[in-house]
Amino acid sequence: MSDQNGNGAAAQPVIDIRNITKSYTMGEESLQILKGISLQVQPGEFLSIMGPSGSGKSTLMNILGALDQPTSGEYFLDGVDVSKLKERDLAKIRNQKIGFVFQSYNLLKRTTAQRQVELPLIYGGKPNRGQRAKAALEAVGLQTRLGHLPSELSGGQQQRVAIARALVNEPSIILADEATGNLDSRSGMEVLQIFQRLNREQHITIIFITHDAWTARHTNRVVMLRDGDIIADQPITQPLVAGEAERPSEAAELEGIFHSTYATNEVVEPAL
Ligand SMILES: Nc1ncnc2c1ncn2[C@@H]1O[C@H](COP(=O)(O)OP(=O)(O)OP(=O)(O)O)[C@@H](O)[C@H]1O
Ligand SMILES: [Mg+2]
Repeated sequence: MSDQNGNGAAAQPVIDIRNITKSYTMGEESLQILKGISLQVQPGEFLSIMGPSGSGKSTLMNILGALDQPTSGEYFLDGVDVSKLKERDLAKIRNQKIGFVFQSYNLLKRTTAQRQVELPLIYGGKPNRGQRAKAALEAVGLQTRLGHLPSELSGGQQQRVAIARALVNEPSIILADEATGNLDSRSGMEVLQIFQRLNREQHITIIFITHDAWTARHTNRVVMLRDGDIIADQPITQPLVAGEAERPSEAAELEGIFHSTYATNEVVEPAL
C-alpha cells in the first residue's frame, strides 16, 4: 500500500487534511476550536470519530464535508485542494462526492420519502429521478414507504430516508454526525447494519461521529478528539458485526474501548 515506486501507484487518501485549524472570533476574543489537525483516510475505510461534547467533532465534520472552510491548513479531497475553493465549486463537489446524515434527520416536513430522496438529484440536474430514488429507498428497506411523510414514519425509518437521500447521488464518502444518536438500540443497529453493508459492498468511505463506544467498535478505526486535538487514532482489529453481538454492560464496553485506545497510544494531554 505504501508508495514504493514513487510513480503515484500507491493508493491516494480520499481525505487528506494537514494541520487544519478553525477559530471563531467572539467579540474581542478568538476561540481556537481545532488546533492543527492532520488526518488521512483511505478509500473504503469506516472510521469513527469520538470525543467529549465540545471537542470539535462537528466542526471537523463540517470541514471534511466542505460545508465550512478551515481558518488555516490544507484539505485534499480525492487529491484536489478544496481549502481554497469558492462556495460554488464546493457545492458541486459536495453534491458529487459526499452524502450527509445528521442526528436530527433533517427531512422536510411536508415532503414524501420518495421526494426527499429525489431532491439531491433535482439539484444536480440528474435524470431518472423517480427510479433512482426508489432504488435508494429499497436499499434501506423502505420500498413500502415511498409516499409517507416524516410524521408517518418511525425515527429509525426517518433516518433510513436520510441515508437513502445521502446515497442517491452515489457518493464516495458518507459523513454521519451522531446518526444513531436519537434512535433506540434496535433502530440504531439497523442503521449501523446499513452502513456496514454500504462500506463492505460498495466500498463507500464512511466517517461516523459517535459518543457511543459500542457503536464505534463496529467501525474499522477510531479517532479520538479532545479540545480540538487528535489524542488517539487506532485501528479496530476485529470490528463487531452489527446485530450479531449483544451489547455488554456500559462498564465493560467503556473499559474495552478506552483500554485499547489508551493502552497502546498514550498521547494524553493534561486537561486545562
Ligand atoms: N459558529 C460558531 N461560533 C463560535 N463557536 C462555535 C461555533 N460553532 C461551534 N463553536 C464552538 O466550537 C466548539 C466545538 O463545537 P462542536 O459542535 O464541533 O463540538 P462537538 O464535538 O460536535 O460536540 P457535541 O458532541 O456536543 O456535538 C464548541 O465549544 C462550540 O461552542
Ligand atoms: Mg457535534
